[in-house]
Amino acid sequence: MAERPYVVGNWKMNGTRAMLAQARAIDRAAQNLMKVEVALAPPFTLIHATHREVEQIGVGGQDCHPRAEGAHTGDTSATMIADAGAKFVILGHSERRQDHGESNELVNDKAAAALEAGLRVIMCCGETEETRDGGKAVDFVSSQLETSLPEKVENAADMLAVAYEPIWAIGTGRTPTVADIGEMHRAIRALLVKRYGEKEGAEIRILYGGSVKPENARELLAADEVGGALVGGASLTAESFMGIVIGAAELQQDQ
Ligand code: PGA
Repeated sequence: MAERPYVVGNWKMNGTRAMLAQARAIDRAAQNLMKVEVALAPPFTLIHATHREVEQIGVGGQDCHPRAEGAHTGDTSATMIADAGAKFVILGHSERRQDHGESNELVNDKAAAALEAGLRVIMCCGETEETRDGGKAVDFVSSQLETSLPEKVENAADMLAVAYEPIWAIGTGRTPTVADIGEMHRAIRALLVKRYGEKEGAEIRILYGGSVKPENARELLAADEVGGALVGGASLTAESFMGIVIGAAELQQDQ
């Protein structure tokens, strides 16, 4: 487990202003759990409002465009979400890759734009069930990251996190074994050290995502090289999300 685990809620396309009450409750609870870095990625429409409501937790976006501005109807740039109060952005989520045909190269361009705008990046990766069953998960994820991650990142340990999210585990209630998570996270660690150097590469936090719940958080977070969690469904209420944060805090205390 990382020195300060990172637990991030991804609200996806959920939430109107009524959900700000959950963000406030998460923020209040996080103030008593400073050992864990807690953050929320609400939809674009709630970034600014969430930023204004909270004191402790980080607020971020779920995507950004690779250009800073221009004729791109319906898109939102990294500069704009930073201006709205975001400090980080989730990129390359499998739902973006699947629903919007995002390639590794496009995700790489988005990461460069986000870093340029001063946003930290959570880079997502993960294999399909078919790839896992075919025994090719580690190879697939490694090559996905090789092409999606920017070649150089200044202050990479702070500016970059990687989220391993097997597609078949997202929103399904199914999770890989702790051994499988450990194997994947070790492979990702080796790749990060190779690319960003011994020191920075060793400190970049690698999150696990996919059906993380209060009931399984401790077990999943205890896997080798897991430095936190990216949480979808269970981040929509303060009660379940904080159950995961408490799990991370307890685990850290035990180590
Ligand atoms: P889930 O989603 O926790 O609902 O499985 C995780 C994610 O997609 O980030």
